[in-house]
Amino acid sequence: MNVIVVDDYMQLSDTVAKIIAQRVQSKKDLVLGLATGSTPLGMYQELIHMSKNNRVNFGQVTTFNLDEYVGLSACDPQSYCRFMQEHFFDQIKVKRSFIPNGLAPNLAYECLLYESEIKRYGGIDLQILGIGRDGHIGFNEPGSACNSRTCVVQLDDITIRDNARFFNNDRSRVPRQALTMGIETILEARECLLIANGAHKADIVARALRGPVTESVPASLLRNHKSFTVVLDKAAAISLG
Ligand code: GLP
Repeated sequence: MNVIVVDDYMQLSDTVAKIIAQRVQSKKDLVLGLATGSTPLGMYQELIHMSKNNRVNFGQVTTFNLDEYVGLSACDPQSYCRFMQEHFFDQIKVKRSFIPNGLAPNLAYECLLYESEIKRYGGIDLQILGIGRDGHIGFNEPGSACNSRTCVVQLDDITIRDNARFFNNDRSRVPRQALTMGIETILEARECLLIANGAHKADIVARALRGPVTESVPASLLRNHKSFTVVLDKAAAISLG
């Protein structure tokens, strides 16, 4: 595990964008796993900036997002599909982008399909991940099996509470279920990169990186990966000792 600690959110976004750009430069048809949430927003901004200045070209890159809410259409303002459109794909042209379809009539089939698309593109080269305050990665909540594949999951109360900020702070509007790449799907990526910023993440970051490797803290399972990098700002790293 390689842990990089930078001063602030701007440096974090810059560092992660540079790592991604470097991977795209060395493999034009990179298969890139993407994440949503507030943490990667600065990284997306920086990638857009780099692309507009011709410092990176995503034209041959294929992307796979980690997760999507069940029951939200692609154009729902709170769907991850719309989030990606707004914050990245509207301004960056990639070859093809995949996001699980939370409105698929048969969700179990949609999960199988997602897995087979990942396989068809040769697997994910680099997976970007945020971390939930309960240690979730994607939407794999505490207790998720380390051999789980893309599946339908129930969201924990803490996740519903945290994500209510995207739904006008109305918890009742947050979907109770989501589709997510499984832990094993994520660990099969050739490289994993976890990012976290802010003091509110310090405790879970310390549990994930210094505590036991356990399914109770899904992010800790990333330590079993042979190519795992963590980029933190100072505030998120404060409890690492
Ligand atoms: C959501 C996403 C996760 C993300 C997490 C953290 O629940 N499913 O993939 O890592 O939020 O979000 P934030 O970056 O806003 O703290």
